[in-house]
Amino acid sequence: MIMKNIAIVGATGAVGTKILEKLVERNFPMQSVKLLASARSAGTEIKVGDQTYIVEETVPESFESVDIAFFSAGGSVSQKFAKEAVARGAIVIDNTSAFRMDPETPLVVPEVNPHTLQKHQGIIANPNCSTIQMVAALQPIREKFGLKRIIVSTYQAVSGAGAEAIDELQEQSRQFSDRKNIEAAILPSASAEKHYPIAFNAIPQIDMFGEAGYTLEEWKMMNETKKIFGDDSIAVSATCVRLPVVSGHSESVYIEVEKEGVTVEDLHQAMAGAPGVTLQDDPSTQFYPMPLFAEDEDDVFVGRVRKDPNEAKGFHMWIVSDNLLKGAALNSVQIAEKLLER
Ligand code: A2P
Repeated sequence: MIMKNIAIVGATGAVGTKILEKLVERNFPMQSVKLLASARSAGTEIKVGDQTYIVEETVPESFESVDIAFFSAGGSVSQKFAKEAVARGAIVIDNTSAFRMDPETPLVVPEVNPHTLQKHQGIIANPNCSTIQMVAALQPIREKFGLKRIIVSTYQAVSGAGAEAIDELQEQSRQFSDRKNIEAAILPSASAEKHYPIAFNAIPQIDMFGEAGYTLEEWKMMNETKKIFGDDSIAVSATCVRLPVVSGHSESVYIEVEKEGVTVEDLHQAMAGAPGVTLQDDPSTQFYPMPLFAEDEDDVFVGRVRKDPNEAKGFHMWIVSDNLLKGAALNSVQIAEKLLER
């Protein structure tokens, strides 16, 4: 096995930390690992197992001799440094939305479209967290029965907005129980004009608003799903909501399949054997996925599968996964593993 020199940009962040953990846990063949962040964190020590790593400031020269660079420090950092890394010979696996819709950049979920890795030109994009768990669960259904429509409503954890948003939820929960004023500065989006408390609340805005009344998060889900499935004809619409959950995104998903006569049992069977998907579906024993129990788990969990009462080809289901793992760090490391296989 050829050992690789790795860099993680955003190594002190919610996702970057998990990328390092996953690389170590999965025995990724690493010759060296460089932990990069902003100048603020230079010199910080990060411990994984009995190894201590020192964080360095990200500069273009950081990528000399790096084989694979994972980026998870926000779109502007990827815009600034990803091409610098590629120019120095690294392959970039980017967790931000900076290059996802670029036609030259593969947008990869290894269980769905690994073949698109072949045409990468140095940068590979890791899709949006909510999109990854949805397409991973729907791929076996799409393969067997076809998919013509998806309507998804998300119930997203604050960790998707970074470590600062986790701190904000925890602080607001303390303020609430101490009957103090709740201060909000991060959610729904740090750059938004107004901020609302997330503790004991549900915010129907993730990221800023874009065209036609949809938020950018909703557009990401709609556009990225079509790109990953390689099918512009699938009708996709999304409503994305932030909840006071630390980790684990949940999704209520309505689908319409192409084939006639498909049953709930058919969908169960298709998903039960699919890689990375675990069925948790037994109403008689109140068995269904929940974000609290998906935390630190690699799989995408599916339950509450039921037929629509009005539409013969319509089904509803509930999809849950740890947004920091399959939605981000794990998927990125799986992309790197696929690159090694090739
Ligand atoms: P730092 O800790 O030095 O600010 P999260 O998604 O949890 O908010 O984490 C964001 C990550 O992106 C952190 O590791 C953060 O590092 C990193 N980051 C932020 N700004 C920059 C920058 N200009 N250059 C490199 N890394 C950055």
